[in-house]
Amino acid sequence: MGYKILVIGGGGREHAIINKIVESPLCDACFALPGNPGIGTIATNLEIPIFDFDKILAAIKVHNIQMVIVGPEVPLVDGIVDFLKEELPALMVVGPKKYAAQLEGSKAFAKEFMMRHQIPTATYIEVTKENLQVGIEHIQKNKGPYVLKADGLASGKGVLIIDDAKTAEMELKTMLDGKFGDASLKVVIEQFLDGIEFSVFALTDGKDYIILPEAKDYKRIGEGDTGLNTGGMGAISPVPFFDEVLRNKVIEQIIEPTIKGFDKDNIDFNGFVFFGLIKVGNEPFVIEYNCRMGDPETEAVFPRIKSDVVEAFISLSQGKLKDYQLIIDEKAAATIILVSGGYPEDFKKGFPVKGAKNINDSIVFHSGTTTNSNGEVLTNGGRVLAITTLHENWKDALATSKQNAEKIDFKGKYYRKDIGFDL
Ligand code: AMP
Ligand code: GLY
Repeated sequence: MGYKILVIGGGGREHAIINKIVESPLCDACFALPGNPGIGTIATNLEIPIFDFDKILAAIKVHNIQMVIVGPEVPLVDGIVDFLKEELPALMVVGPKKYAAQLEGSKAFAKEFMMRHQIPTATYIEVTKENLQVGIEHIQKNKGPYVLKADGLASGKGVLIIDDAKTAEMELKTMLDGKFGDASLKVVIEQFLDGIEFSVFALTDGKDYIILPEAKDYKRIGEGDTGLNTGGMGAISPVPFFDEVLRNKVIEQIIEPTIKGFDKDNIDFNGFVFFGLIKVGNEPFVIEYNCRMGDPETEAVFPRIKSDVVEAFISLSQGKLKDYQLIIDEKAAATIILVSGGYPEDFKKGFPVKGAKNINDSIVFHSGTTTNSNGEVLTNGGRVLAITTLHENWKDALATSKQNAEKIDFKGKYYRKDIGFDL
């Protein structure tokens, strides 16, 4: 007998997760909430918003769902797992409870955790209105660039990197005055780390863990990593510079102490840990933790998983992760994100998407799409589609993703042609 599985979310990340789930003989039926038109071709979309916990619970009961995977961070930080587990203790849930989700939901919580467990990260101070003077003196005493981070969730926009001290002081004040709402009533000021970023993912029950393929994402809108930050414009997996030596350092200095730290601190973490890392010289440091998979990293990472992901989720729920064998495709994955013109600032929605169905040498994941009454696919977000290709090497994979990016069309389509330029 198989399982009825629900994935909460409706972006490219959830499409990529569901694409693996439905391959599994252990999956009887798969639902997405709210899902999207791409997901709708392989699973059942439920038109329920991700913040409506009561309706989500009702849907789980109506459809006899036994397993839930939570994609995005906001419901995790808001306590969806606590709510569901309290109502339905036997439900298998992939995603941490509210307390553990603070690893992403509060930069100060994450920094204190890393300090306690000697995990390499930028030095920092915490500033609120009460100790504003400490923050100002810190800026005056130290050289830029200054890294100012809103403590709470700010849709990836809450980090400012500023070169000069005067602007940094001014921005510190505007943040504490609510530039990012309540999220920036506390600010973390960090040491600037100069290096190359990459992401490592683990699935853990708080004691055992498996490491998923690593990835590199490209956050800036412009080529050469210029312009505004976005949710992510592309990804490559594996990461060429993540060699045996760096991998062992990441395991010994970061992953092991993090998982042991969960145990020591009684942090009941059940789900994905996303380690946002930076290599400075030859040493890895943690830039941030997330309590979920990344987007678009998942669109590059999940297609490389050859073993049964539903079996991994069952092992996680039964405390048997140690016995699970994760099998990874040797091939490289290259993902390109097609975005709406104007993103990450103002952009228009509702343009017909043409040509996405005729692609067969890449996988097309839907991110921000919807359908009209004729069933036509329309743009419905900043990030519209993710195109992933698997190939013997990432350069050829990327070339195919780019060719297919040209075959898909919608008004204002934009994508970065230089993904991987720094590798
Ligand atoms: P975060 O939301 O913490 O991941 O920060 C967003 C982005 O800001 C990161 O992906 C980095 O590019 C940059 N960043 C964050 N912290 C630092 C730091 N301490 N030094 C240099 N760059 C940073
Ligand atoms: N791609 C970065 C993130 O998912 O936060």
